[in-house]
Amino acid sequence: PIIYAITPTYSRPVQKAELTRLANTFRQVSGLHWILVEDSAQTTELVSRFLAGAGVRATHLHVPTPRRYKRGGLPRATEQRNAGLTWLRQQYQAQVQLSYRLNSAPAAPQQLPNVSGVVFFADDDNTYSLELFQEMRTTRKVSVWPVGLVGGRRYERPVVENGKVVGWYTGWRADRPFAIDMAGFAVSLQVILSSPKALFKRRGSQPGMQESDFLKQITKVEELEPKASNCTKVHTRMECNFFFLFIFNRSLVHLFV
Ligand code: UGA
Ligand code: MN
Repeated sequence: PIIYAITPTYSRPVQKAELTRLANTFRQVSGLHWILVEDSAQTTELVSRFLAGAGVRATHLHVPTPRRYKRGGLPRATEQRNAGLTWLRQQYQAQVQLSYRLNSAPAAPQQLPNVSGVVFFADDDNTYSLELFQEMRTTRKVSVWPVGLVGGRRYERPVVENGKVVGWYTGWRADRPFAIDMAGFAVSLQVILSSPKALFKRRGSQPGMQESDFLKQITKVEELEPKASNCTKVHTRMECNFFFLFIFNRSLVHLFV
């Protein structure tokens, strides 16, 4: 399958360094298509030039975050991830419509064109190991795995019993329906195309709830597919604010010494 990585990005001093690190990973993943979405009114020269030399198959989009949403305490990159989803749906729309006509009925997921792809939301500041991409390749609907250095813990992870997700190990808002970071799941392209209205939401979405608000539109906890040896291995980590982690988990200090 093609792995579509949707990455929101915005201009700041570390931007090019972050994108470089990401490209160095993505270049090694076969069949990866990078959807890089700038948070800007126009695509920038810096990112255009960077992508031209990045050696990764890529689509370059842009959409500015409305000014009223650019402040602390509000979710980030909602418009950019939605732009990525909309682009993907447009790419496959012709095929989907053809399949509608051939079947002369609304296409059920299994009647969709035989597209094979996986969609993953890769923020520009995280670290992803190559094993992670092997894990997500076999996603049937929605797959999940642990994420390191997030949620006030050394890692957050889905709790798995008998191959099913039954709860969440996290240090932060354990009451979230899907207590998982954006970096902790992938969705099959079939699901993205067969739920054409599923998008990230601004209204009513608090930080940390975007993942749940999105995932509940397309799946149920019982259906999640645990990856990384039943969610016991950590293949991705968040960029972390060490001060935050220090406050929440002093034992982290031992991890790095
Ligand atoms: C956490 C989650 O990991 C994100 O997936 C979630 O979007 C975010 O919280 C949230 O509050 O909504 P965090 O590390 O706090 O992420 O946020 P950033 O890494 O600063 O931003 C997430 C993504 O949005 C990055 O790819 C960043 O480049 C992009 N972003 C951020 C923009 O496109 N515009 C901005 O103004 C800020
Ligand atoms: Mn981040």
